[in-house]
Amino acid sequence: MSEKMPCSKYIVAALFFAVLLQGSLSNAQLSPTFYDETCPNVTNIIRDVLMNASLSDPRIGASLIRLHFHDCFVQGCDASILLDDPANGEKEALPNNNSARGYEVVDAMKAVLESACPNTVSCADILAIASEESVCLAGGPSWAVPLGRRDGLTANRTLANSNLPGFNESLEAIKSKFTAVGLDTSTDVVALSGAHTFGRAQCFTFTSRLYNFTGEGDTDPTLNTTYLEALSQICPQGGNGSVLTDLDPTTPDAFDSNYFTNLQVNRGLLRSDQQLFSTEGADTIEIVNRFAANQTAFFESFVESMIRMGNISLLTGTAGEIRTNCRAVNAATIRSYSDDVLVSSI
Ligand SMILES: *[C@@H]1O[C@H](CO)[C@@H](O)[C@H](O)[C@H]1NC(C)=O
Ligand SMILES: *[C@@H]1O[C@H](CO)[C@@H](O)[C@H](O)[C@H]1NC(C)=O
Ligand SMILES: *[C@@H]1O[C@H](CO)[C@@H](O)[C@H](O)[C@H]1NC(C)=O
Ligand SMILES: *[C@@H]1O[C@H](CO)[C@@H](O)[C@H](O)[C@H]1NC(C)=O
Ligand SMILES: *[C@@H]1O[C@H](CO)[C@@H](O)[C@H](O)[C@H]1NC(C)=O
Ligand SMILES: *[C@@H]1O[C@H](CO)[C@@H](O)[C@H](O)[C@H]1NC(C)=O
Ligand SMILES: *[C@@H]1O[C@H](CO)[C@@H](O)[C@H](O)[C@H]1NC(C)=O
Ligand SMILES: *[C@@H]1O[C@H](CO)[C@@H](O)[C@H](O)[C@H]1NC(C)=O
Ligand SMILES: *[C@@H]1O[C@H](CO)[C@@H](O)[C@H](O)[C@H]1NC(C)=O
Ligand SMILES: *[C@@H]1O[C@H](CO)[C@@H](O)[C@H](O)[C@H]1NC(C)=O
Repeated sequence: MSEKMPCSKYIVAALFFAVLLQGSLSNAQLSPTFYDETCPNVTNIIRDVLMNASLSDPRIGASLIRLHFHDCFVQGCDASILLDDPANGEKEALPNNNSARGYEVVDAMKAVLESACPNTVSCADILAIASEESVCLAGGPSWAVPLGRRDGLTANRTLANSNLPGFNESLEAIKSKFTAVGLDTSTDVVALSGAHTFGRAQCFTFTSRLYNFTGEGDTDPTLNTTYLEALSQICPQGGNGSVLTDLDPTTPDAFDSNYFTNLQVNRGLLRSDQQLFSTEGADTIEIVNRFAANQTAFFESFVESMIRMGNISLLTGTAGEIRTNCRAVNAATIRSYSDDVLVSSI
């Protein structure tokens, strides 16, 4: 809480290389310099659109990180969440329908990028860069984002329904979803949950904790009673489930370690948040305490975990494509795909 890390690329550049070196350099597929020749201004372009959008929509940064997260957990970071697809689109999956947002801002970023450097920057990379810029803009760390992802050709609603962590899930259930995508069940879970240091949630995601936790008209015993009082003013029983409230009641729009100090006094908004601290004997408690006491430690772990998350099941090289419109697979790809199908069916 006491330390403010400057928003500087240079600080976390060292960290990125440290992470790379732990893995095998020869296998590293992404690179922070990927667009240096082909679209050197990519980060500035994304930042400009983000800053303009945040003037009228202060929670847009949190919404964009959520899109990246909800993309990466479903078939990897391939921008599948951005595809408009009435039958299999991830946008309408339960964890996203009427809650995932920011699609128009991604469209605006893509439009400027297509005019500055056509057919070059993937929608999946836009989500990764927009996430980093959002964190930085809100006072959090900055880092050199590994780039070179390609966009997928399909969305999968079934996988979105099964893979994404839920707001009322137990720590065990959430851990198993992290394991399924190759992330670790302690630091990655706690650090990435820390993104709830900003943004909003709808009443329906936590009202059961206020009024009917186990179906006995009870409250969640791990919810601070003062906080419960305040929340029940915002979200009265039987009221409008779409009303929004701050995920971090202390500093709602700042990226800082207050999310963790809140958990220490039972002021996590979602059950999935509070579980990190309130699950008896959990290995996450000690990490919450460390991040609460040391914001630098949180920032460093957050960056490492974001880089790991941004590396899940990637399409690189010539796999997938670079979409020109983030909402649709390129027409040319669809044509060549049907040709292939035609050829293979002959
Ligand atoms: C990213 O994934 C690739 C392929 O699985 C792996 O070789 C590399 O070490 C990973 N990089 C990071 C930073 O985790
Ligand atoms: C890079 O982007 C910034 C912000 O959008 C803009 O002011 C600048 O002119 C751009 N530079 C180039 C070389 O396109
Ligand atoms: C800035 O944001 C406003 C409101 O969100 C939008 O109408 C406008 O087109 C944006 N301007 C630019 C240059 O992106
Ligand atoms: C998504 O929400 C809308 C209401 O806004 C609803 O009509 C639709 O059935 C939902 N879609 C799915 C797949 O649940
Ligand atoms: C979604 O993924 C599941 C599991 O991999 C697979 O069985 C299913 O066919 C996929 N659905 C679509 C529409 O691709
Ligand atoms: C939330 O989790 C609690 C504890 O497992 C459970 O009793 C309750 O039914 C869940 N509520 C909802 C709305 O899923
Ligand atoms: C509380 O939950 C139980 C079990 O789901 C349900 O039968 C009851 O109607 C709920 N009570 C209220 C006030 O919603
Ligand atoms: C419920 O709240 C949302 C968000 O504040 C608002 O847009 C919507 O109009 C409200 N619905 C009703 C029926 O009041
Ligand atoms: C509840 O929150 C208040 C701050 O709002 C704090 O002073 C108090 O210690 C908390 N109670 C518990 C049991 O954590
Ligand atoms: C806070 O964490 C950083 C990064 O892990 C570490 O270098 C520093 O020594 C820690 N500070 C304290 C007071 O423990």
